[in-house]
Amino acid sequence: MSHSPTTPKPIAYLAYQKLADHFDAHLATKPHNAYYERPAMVAIWPELRGKHVLDAGCGPGLYAALLLQRGAIVTAIDVSDRMLELARKRLGPETNLQRVDLSQPMQMFADASFDFINAPLCLDYIEDWRALFLEFHRILRPGGGVQFSCGHPSFDAEYYRTQRYFSVEHVECTWTGFGKPVVMPSFRRSLQETIMPLLEAGFQIRRIVEPLPTEDFARSDPKKYESLMHRPAFLCMQATRS
Ligand SMILES: C[S@@+](CC[C@H](N)C(=O)[O-])C[C@H]1O[C@@H](n2cnc3c(N)ncnc32)[C@H](O)[C@@H]1O
Repeated sequence: MSHSPTTPKPIAYLAYQKLADHFDAHLATKPHNAYYERPAMVAIWPELRGKHVLDAGCGPGLYAALLLQRGAIVTAIDVSDRMLELARKRLGPETNLQRVDLSQPMQMFADASFDFINAPLCLDYIEDWRALFLEFHRILRPGGGVQFSCGHPSFDAEYYRTQRYFSVEHVECTWTGFGKPVVMPSFRRSLQETIMPLLEAGFQIRRIVEPLPTEDFARSDPKKYESLMHRPAFLCMQATRS
């Protein structure tokens, strides 16, 4: 995949290039990932043995490793070269890893190539979910599923103190939990803009989960645990291609 001078670099490319190594080093125990988002996502995965699964925005490959353990046939994609190098280290030479920008059409994948798409915490960097979900719909076989996690619209609206709730809004914050502080851009969206692009693309929503932190989270960071027990930071959705 290449970016021509007319195709802008994805908004979070540089940020993830910078923090990839720290992200990889901390992902297994970082409370928001390890004791909050990941358990919620994995808990609702369908049976995946022998299924062709696309792990979208795979980062350093921890989710892909879990999918392989479940017996899935995994293709893992990300836009960050460094994340892909780290994923290669974790997953070994056999795993199908590709550099793919989710904000562009995915011509490298034929229609109906996959049974399931796993897309954790990577869609907040994509502005146009209508185009994205149409592509997901195209590359999934009929009856296939997509599952993703993203910022919770209510949490994000307050966190970013938005004055433009109904817009898909370019926002930034500074991440301090993965090495040197890194400014992280993303797109904040309303509840309607989180759900409607999925339905309009021809998906049926099967599950919506507002995760609760696990007991390991309480041990690791009691203050944030208390807060997450009352107010979700992420949202997980599972939908089927009708
Ligand atoms: C928060 S990390 C999540 C990684 C992994 N899914 C996980 O949960 O462990 C977000 C990932 O999305 C990737 N990403 C951001 N924008 C992307 C884009 N336009 N296309 C593909 N991947 C992208 C980043 O490089 C990064 O690896």
